[in-house]
Amino acid sequence: MLDTVGILVDRQTFKGIPSRRTGNERLALYNKAAKQLGLKLFYMSLDQMGRKSASGFTYRKKTYKRERLPIPAVTHNRVITFSSKENGKLKQLSQTSFLFNRQNRYDKYKIYKLIYQNPKLRAYLPVSLVFTEAQLQSAMKNYSSLYIKPTNSSVGDGIMKLKKHKSGKWLFYWKKGSPKLLSSKKAVSTITRYVGKMRYMIQEAIPVATYEGRPYDLRVTVQRGSTGSWQLIGMIGRIAAAGRHVTNVAKGGKVKKVKELFQASGFEPEQMEAAVREASLQIMWYLSEKLTHLADVGLDIGVDRQGAIKLIEINGRDQRYSFKKAKMKSTFYRTYETPMKYAKYVLNQNNQKPSNS
Ligand SMILES: Nc1ncnc2c1ncn2[C@@H]1O[C@H](COP(=O)(O)OP(=O)(O)OP(=O)(O)O)[C@@H](O)[C@H]1O
Ligand SMILES: [Mg+2]
Repeated sequence: MLDTVGILVDRQTFKGIPSRRTGNERLALYNKAAKQLGLKLFYMSLDQMGRKSASGFTYRKKTYKRERLPIPAVTHNRVITFSSKENGKLKQLSQTSFLFNRQNRYDKYKIYKLIYQNPKLRAYLPVSLVFTEAQLQSAMKNYSSLYIKPTNSSVGDGIMKLKKHKSGKWLFYWKKGSPKLLSSKKAVSTITRYVGKMRYMIQEAIPVATYEGRPYDLRVTVQRGSTGSWQLIGMIGRIAAAGRHVTNVAKGGKVKKVKELFQASGFEPEQMEAAVREASLQIMWYLSEKLTHLADVGLDIGVDRQGAIKLIEINGRDQRYSFKKAKMKSTFYRTYETPMKYAKYVLNQNNQKPSNS
């Protein structure tokens, strides 16, 4: 089992393996990378896993085979857990296997606070506050544009935006359609009602650079690779759909190569790319001292009109498909290959340790 690497996928993906319908997870790319690296893959699902062994799928000679195998020494986690039962299983797995990206979703405000502890990185953070009605009222005095977003949500859902209008009222963006013009009082009561008992944060809106009048930001993939250290794998721009305040591809955002975006914004493309690379790596070097099992992340980065780099959020289970959409085939492949290289590195490290100590 020494050269076997586990890949933990969610139930839906797991069930689709025999018919090769695995949604956004392009398992063929893991298989290709494993072949090149001389690794065997074992696809697992939390609900088919025991303490010592699991019933999963191996891939050999172009076919998947259902097998029961011991838990591999190294596992790449692609699951986001929701229930405490699933969390328990994940914890159990991490006791037998070196499970990287053990946790794939972090509370956005917690991440903000962790990074804020490092004075060198503070400049990359838009001001963020935990949502309360009073905090919103005071933020509206200090900022002319704000995002109000769930600290733990997904793909642009539940994200609101407020923007001061010349009349003194506020433009309120929420879901699709044109923004509504609301008085301060009405804006506060509306937002407070929508937030309800959910955990939200307030974040200063980054005055992001635009492309043909539409805001854009970047998805930056940073992963640990064959030497165990963080590498910048690729970056891609995402342009918001007309009239929308979020760039998520799941919300109609369009992908575009960063070079074109930077050029259109009057930035020197190579220089800006290098700056984004440096910022992303610095953030991950620091953060991974605190969150030790992280090895694969997608950073949402905004570049403001002056060219300052701001971190919007960090995604554990990076949806790598933006690279595919942008026809960046080799980058797309590398987003699958690099975690496998890292798994191989970890396996080799384990093998070098004396076995009976
Ligand atoms: N402070 C901000 N300034 C400018 N734009 C923002 C800000 N916060 C969010 N956005 C826009 O909203 C989009 C979605 O926000 P964010 O990435 O924080 O949440 P999400 O993608 O829904 O969360 P998750 O990745 O957990 O599903 C961003 O990609 C960006 O376009
Ligand atoms: Mg996001």
